[in-house]
Amino acid sequence: MINQVKGTHDVLDLTLHNFIIEQARIHMQHAYFTEITTPILESIDLFKRTLGTETDVISKEMFVIEQHPNSSERICLRPEATAPTTRAFLQHGIQQQPWKVFSHGPMFRYERPQKGRYRQFNQFNIEVINAGSIAHDTQMIAMLERFFSERLKLVNYVLFINFLGCSADRAEYKKTLQSFLADNIASICPTCTQRATTNSMRVFDCKNSTCQKLYLNAPFIADHLCQDCISDWQQLKEQLTILSISYAYNPLLVRGLDYYNKTVFEFSSTDLGAQNAFCGGGRYELAQQCGALQPVPSLGAAFGTERLALMLESIVDSLTIKPKPTLHVIIPLSEKQQTLALFCADLLQRHNFCTETLLDNKSVKNMMNKAHKMGATYVFLLGDDEQEKKMVTIKNMLTGKQDTIAQADIISYLKK
Ligand code: HAM
Repeated sequence: MINQVKGTHDVLDLTLHNFIIEQARIHMQHAYFTEITTPILESIDLFKRTLGTETDVISKEMFVIEQHPNSSERICLRPEATAPTTRAFLQHGIQQQPWKVFSHGPMFRYERPQKGRYRQFNQFNIEVINAGSIAHDTQMIAMLERFFSERLKLVNYVLFINFLGCSADRAEYKKTLQSFLADNIASICPTCTQRATTNSMRVFDCKNSTCQKLYLNAPFIADHLCQDCISDWQQLKEQLTILSISYAYNPLLVRGLDYYNKTVFEFSSTDLGAQNAFCGGGRYELAQQCGALQPVPSLGAAFGTERLALMLESIVDSLTIKPKPTLHVIIPLSEKQQTLALFCADLLQRHNFCTETLLDNKSVKNMMNKAHKMGATYVFLLGDDEQEKKMVTIKNMLTGKQDTIAQADIISYLKK
């Protein structure tokens, strides 16, 4: 038997996933966002220039497509959607300010698979491109918070925020952090020792408990901001408070992609185990890496639908998931009535009644049991007698009531 590729998964019932996407779509449209889509295939250079060559996504997780002999393009499966959305903004010369868009679809990262972490997963991605005011950050966070708490009815989660300053702040701060790491080099793990010089702020992502303990006493970027960033950081916190958004300041939150600037945030839940972040985002500046002449201040976020579906499984009964349509099951009592059964099913489906036909010719008892298990509300019985007299016997499985009516009256009977 050939099984699924490692790190991928089959979803055999999409009800929860579709619920998440439908609710998110309604939520985003209320906030005046437009739905877009970008290709799954993108140039490798797009991500190399934007995500940071020292990030895990670029250094070890890219799904590179083997080059076609006739092509000089270097292509990969997209690991995320922020860089592609920025590429689309620039490529199509979009003038809208801000450009507020969302998209959803599969992303690919060659990660070590575990619960909630896949090599192919689905993201719902939101971007506000060309938006300088920090009030956009508050609005984005508030919109996400209302989505999780009110539309998805999630309770057990925390919103972490941090402020990474501007590039000048980070350049200055990194010197201070590197000196702290140099003083403590004997106590940190080999990965942090390496990151101390290549990508020092990423040491805060380390899961090693000794490192984590040490970093609680490290210098934090939010304490090394310029005047403009101090004022933005202050404004963000004040606005979140005024909008009654609960948050926790997490100075160790740096995010795994290098393009962030100023605000970063993550929604996290202990219900998820090790992969506890289900939504992450922040402010970024990557248009110039994609070829723009001017900076284009932007912000965005993405949530993984698999992780959200895992969280929703335990509260599914409290959600207003659209009930399945009333089911009509047609049972031909012998092979002779199969054509008539197909005719009736065709008629019902053309009038938008959800209909299934049992064509396996088992005993009546067996087929009635099957219809019951399927959750049928109406069962249509077609035997020799019904066929001869152009009638049908309809049983209401909820009340037990049974009527025999003319086949010509089926639709008016159901609509009554
Ligand atoms: P990210 O934090 O890498 O951010 O991913 C966002 C979300 O995607 C995560 O919180 C998680 O729910 C889901 N996710 C990520 N990797 C996996 C995986 N291997 N398996 C299952 N789910 C996963 C970004 O991708 C940024 N582009 C977000 C963003 C948009 N920032 C600004 N704009």
